[in-house]
Amino acid sequence: MVEKELIEQKIGEAIGLEIAAQKSVDELVSKGLLKAEHEKKLRPMQEEANTQQNEMNSLVKEIAEDEGFDIENINSVSNETALKASKIMETYLGEEPDTQEALEFLCLAEGAEVTHYEVLASVAKEVKSRKFGTKVRDILKEEQNHLEMCTKLAKQNINKE
Ligand SMILES: [Fe+2]
Repeated sequence: MVEKELIEQKIGEAIGLEIAAQKSVDELVSKGLLKAEHEKKLRPMQEEANTQQNEMNSLVKEIAEDEGFDIENINSVSNETALKASKIMETYLGEEPDTQEALEFLCLAEGAEVTHYEVLASVAKEVKSRKFGTKVRDILKEEQNHLEMCTKLAKQNINKE
């Protein structure tokens, strides 16, 4: 039995990572760290992250009453997680970041998303709504694709340099 508050926390973290993923693509582009070919591949990923964020938010809203979820707690965790992720990015990139580091940071971020959705999928049995587990598993597959794509970009980039 996983406590409700812990499930709320994990949901909040997953949503916060979605917010951070979108923000980090914008920031890496504005810092000039991503090449045009990367941006072309990463913009659709960013859009998908936006869809995932919206879908998770509306699903949580829909089931909150039935599940006894505290939406405010979920929201505050997601904001806090997004903030933490920004700080991690700053630390990771350091003083003189390059494209390779930018791509590797995205791998780190997508890796965190994969892990969080894996964890959510494993606690989905504690959630009454069947839709929840289905949605989490769908997003998990997309996150695995994101991680695979970012890893591929990082590998291609280092071989060109
Ligand atoms: Fe992602």
